[in-house]
Amino acid sequence: MKKIIAILLATATLMGAVFAKSAKGTKVGVSMPTKDLQRWNQDGANMKAELEKAGFVVDLQYAANDIPTQISQIENMITGKCKILVIVAVDGSSLSNVLEQARKKKIQVIAYDRLIMNTKAVSYYATFDNELVGKMQGQYLERALNLKNRTKDDPAYMEFFTGDPGDNNANFFFNGAMKVIKPYLDSGVVVCRSGQTTKAQVATLNWSTEEAQKRMENLITSNKYGPKGTKLDAVLCSNDSTALGATNALVSAGYTAANIPLITGQDCDIANTKNMIKGLQAMNVFKDTRVLAAKVLEMIQAIGEGKKVSVNNTTDYNNNEKNLQDPTSFIPSFLCTPEEVLSDTCYDFLVNNKKYYTAAELK
Ligand code: BGC
Repeated sequence: MKKIIAILLATATLMGAVFAKSAKGTKVGVSMPTKDLQRWNQDGANMKAELEKAGFVVDLQYAANDIPTQISQIENMITGKCKILVIVAVDGSSLSNVLEQARKKKIQVIAYDRLIMNTKAVSYYATFDNELVGKMQGQYLERALNLKNRTKDDPAYMEFFTGDPGDNNANFFFNGAMKVIKPYLDSGVVVCRSGQTTKAQVATLNWSTEEAQKRMENLITSNKYGPKGTKLDAVLCSNDSTALGATNALVSAGYTAANIPLITGQDCDIANTKNMIKGLQAMNVFKDTRVLAAKVLEMIQAIGEGKKVSVNNTTDYNNNEKNLQDPTSFIPSFLCTPEEVLSDTCYDFLVNNKKYYTAAELK
């Protein structure tokens, strides 16, 4: 009997080893939107390194922010026998057809950072708490401008920038921020002189720094903003690439660290962190891409080994509006926690505490 048990145990261990090994050799396709923004270079590199360390074979592609390019890269991943796809969509609503091919082949799809809309192919979503990111930006301005104690006789003047219209995240960031700021706009405690306060009016194509800079320049001209001109207290930007554009325009208009409006951001990009150190950007939201990559690796390992994938949100991310009432249509999601970073502590936080950048990188 003992012998039989021993043989059974040995066989089970061997099978376990074989299975673990086979899960390890699995090919994973990682589809990133663009190399133009620091965020995705970092995320792509992190994912590839972590996955290869764990023994996976990785096909990493960048789509130059072009929808057809991303579709054909994903097609190649499917025909190239990837078993799992990790995708940051250029445009969240344009991948339905190509992902239907993946679904037919039972390829598991993880939407990375941005949710992919209108498809049943998404198995999991891994991201940061996107609405919280927006709320944190709004709450920072609420605090810094003392909005709770102001009246409409002494309003704070604010302009708004959010992201690409095709990025579902932009809705969450903008709505999160507006949950905090809108009541003040309604009561006149916050005034937006341009009147541009809807998401469509403040969107930035491709999250482009140049586009944001152009729009800020136009706002400066048409509203006569300037250190000696019309008062502007804050520019609520959903992320760092747009914040950088707004900052460039404001600095060109003569603002310095002593009088520049409070600017918010997200990602702690190097250029923005340098601006924060100089006092040109007030606030940032840190999203540790290493934590997200590690979480996705965990998901992939669980999928590969046929284990339960751990998630912490099954009620907020629906990728097909038609099924809003159907609880099974919410994508099992894992939300990582964003952290607030302020200009006076950002260096210590990012270099010494998080070891996210070296001192040399911020020179
Ligand atoms: C990401 C942000 C990023 C933006 C532009 C969003 O989907 O969540 O972190 O700043 O895309 O790349």
